[in-house]
This record gives sequence, structure tokens and C-alpha cells, in this order.
Amino acid sequence: MFRYLATKRLGPVEYLTLNRPDVRNAFNEDVIAELTAWAAAAHADRALRVVVVAGAGKTFSAGADVQWMVKTVDYTQEENLRDAAAASAMFASIDALPVPVVGRVQGAALGGGAGLAAVCDIVVAEDSAIFGFTEVKLGILPAVISPFSVAKIGRSAARELFLTGARFSAARAREIGLVHAVVPASGLDAAVDGYVREILTAAPEAIAAAKALIRDVWGRPLDEARPITARAIANRRVSSEGQEGLRAFLEKRKPTWNSEV
Ligand code: COA
Repeated sequence: MFRYLATKRLGPVEYLTLNRPDVRNAFNEDVIAELTAWAAAAHADRALRVVVVAGAGKTFSAGADVQWMVKTVDYTQEENLRDAAAASAMFASIDALPVPVVGRVQGAALGGGAGLAAVCDIVVAEDSAIFGFTEVKLGILPAVISPFSVAKIGRSAARELFLTGARFSAARAREIGLVHAVVPASGLDAAVDGYVREILTAAPEAIAAAKALIRDVWGRPLDEARPITARAIANRRVSSEGQEGLRAFLEKRKPTWNSEV
């Protein structure tokens, strides 16, 4: 179905693997089109509860395909804008998925690869992985990934890392909030699986509401955020899922959504 993506489904868990290892899973317009189509299907998939994003081979992703970037010199301004807007829409679509997205990073996550990590909700990295917003080293910019990346790492780290293009360690990525867990390579799958299992014990609609809540309150003044938060919890308390979770706790049983793969 896809040329550059591999997908595997285990019950409610979707495993999405960038599958262009010869060029370290670099993105070109075809990869972006496939990821966009995949994300549209994932948005519509009511049975989906968690996504794991990984890269085939040695590297999570080397970001934009430099061959593709070079040939954009022959595009018109309009074509370049359309091309970049498609990449932006792809990152936005993954960012807005209602289910948690867990990134599994080995090797390197550079440029758009770091941007892909930034649109994951949770990122687990092997301790030897390297990260970088390396675009300025190539004379270009971490542009379409900037809203998602700055939201994750903050302005201060962005000013250092976007401006130097320096590569940094998984430990540093964790310090700045791009990564949540750093583990030895041999423990990468188990750490990812730990997050997946944790997510499967929580209520799917509540998780989607929590993800929307973070987006809705972030950057808002408190007096605007407060009514949003009150509405959000008022709706949740009386929802059938909310009632099921609360009653299951009192009745000392597992709630109905608590399945395992
Ligand atoms: N675009 C296109 N091709 C890329 C690429 C990219 N972003 N990153 C790597 N490749 C290609 C290399 O040109 C090489 O091709 P070749 O086999 O025809 O020579 C192949 O992938 C393997 O790359 P190599 O550097 O030998 O692999 P590595 O495992 O030693 O290192 C990286 C992997 C990711 C650390 C390294 O390739 C790298 O630094 N890539 C550039 C990343 C970057 O700056 N991305 C930002 C783009 S805006």
C-alpha cells in the first residue's frame, strides 16, 4: 500500500515505520504524501488507541531529503510554497492525532527527523541517539517544524539549537523536553512497550480530551483558560466513560477499556 512506510497493526496499536533506510529515512515529497495519507486514515480510525512511530535500519530519520531540497531550485515560488505547505500540513496532522503517538528513536533524529520527534507525545530514545536542528548548517531553516519544536523545547533552547545547528545527545534532548526516556539500545522496545501498555489502561476518550486540553490551554491567559478547563472536566465527569472509570474504581474492578495487546 505504501512504498516508503511500513505499518503493522496489533489490536488497537498501530506501528508506523519510516522505511527508506538507504537514505536514513529522509523525507521527500513522496514520503510526505504517504505520511499525510496515513495520518488521515489514522484520524478516522475509531479503533486506534496508540501509535508507535519508528525508523527502519540504523536511524530514526535524517530529516529532509537533501536531493529533494537541491532540486527545489527548479520549482517556481508557487511550487515551493505548495511543497512546503504540504510538509507543514503533514506535521500538523500527526501533531493533532487524538491518540497518543510514541516515538522510538535510534541512531539519529535530525532536521525534520527531530521535528517528527517533536510531534510525538512521548519519545523514547536509545542513549547513543543524536539529535539536531541542523538545517542552518545546510543553509536552510527548520521552518515548518518550528511551531512544534519550539512548543516542545522552548524559546531558549531553540535559540541555541536552531541558530547553531549543533548536534546534541539524547540526554540533552531529554533535558529540554524533546525526549522523555533515554534507555540503552537493548531496552528500547521494552521502554516503548511500557508506555503503550500504560496508555492502554487509560480511557481513550479521556486521553483524546486531555490531548485537546493541553492544546487549548497552552499559551492562553488564565482567565481565558479557566472556563475551558471547567467545561472540559464537567463534560468528562458525566460521560459514560467517566462514569465507568469512576465506578470501576469504587467497585474495585478493571474498567471496560482496560485491555492489553
Ligand atoms: N537526505 C538525503 N540523503 C541522506 C540524508 C538526507 N537528509 N541523510 C543521509 N543520506 C544518505 C547519505 O547521502 C548516504 O547516501 P550514499 O549511501 O549514497 O552515500 C546514505 O544516506 C547513508 O548516509 P551516511 O551519512 O553514510 O549514514 P550514517 O549512518 O553514517 O549517518 C546520519 C547517518 C543521519 C547521521 C548522516 O547521514 C547525516 O548526518 N545526515 C544528514 C542529516 C541532516 O543534516 N539532515 C537535515 C536535512 S535538512
